[in-house]
Amino acid sequence: MSNDYIIREAKIEDAERLIEIYSYYVLNTAVSFEYEVPTISAFRDRIKGTLEKYPYLVCVQGNKILGYAYAGAYSARSAYDWTATTSIYVDKDFRRQGVGAVLYAELEARLKTQCVVNLLAGVAFCDPEDEYLSHDSYNFHNRMGYTKVAHMKAIGKKFDRWYDLLWMQKSL
Ligand SMILES: CC(C)(COP(=O)(O)OP(=O)(O)OC[C@H]1O[C@@H](n2cnc3c(N)ncnc32)[C@H](O)[C@@H]1OP(=O)(O)O)[C@@H](O)C(=O)NCCC(=O)NCCS
Repeated sequence: MSNDYIIREAKIEDAERLIEIYSYYVLNTAVSFEYEVPTISAFRDRIKGTLEKYPYLVCVQGNKILGYAYAGAYSARSAYDWTATTSIYVDKDFRRQGVGAVLYAELEARLKTQCVVNLLAGVAFCDPEDEYLSHDSYNFHNRMGYTKVAHMKAIGKKFDRWYDLLWMQKSL
């Protein structure tokens, strides 16, 4: 099913479409702890900044970007150089169609070539699920081979509610 997906490096000009995907999660969910949708110029700077050291990938079908994933530094301290954070957002209307899996597979392949051995995903969490936050990301990361290694309680406040943050780790 995922055969016609093409994974390529993100371009600065993709910013508008990526914001379109991301803004749904910023405005309607606690998946992202941001309150406001970043401006195009700020988003362009994020893409540019990431690409200086890490992969930033988009999944394209035809001419349409369906999702994106990127890596980042966990910490600037040298000893952490073999560890990268991973983030992923799939267009809300194209979830559960294999986009996340192909993006993460390529992200991992590229991170391996730069000698990264640990992946860390920060996953917003609450139990039970509420109308702003499901267990989708937690389940997806489990399926992708990540395991929960840290559980920070009530560390982010959004929509007047406190949310937890899980760190999920995968060794490459
Ligand atoms: C989480 C997210 C990235 C998953 O992407 P996706 O394209 O829907 O996932 P895929 O269709 O590629 O699924 C890959 C595997 O994970 C499983 N999976 C995905 N979502 C799942 C869910 N909610 N519950 C259980 N399993 C799930 C799939 O069944 C599939 O397993 P399979 O290979 O056995 O079929 C996507 O739902 C999303 O963008 N969510 C909102 C943003 C978000 O939470 N990002 C993560 C921030 S840390």
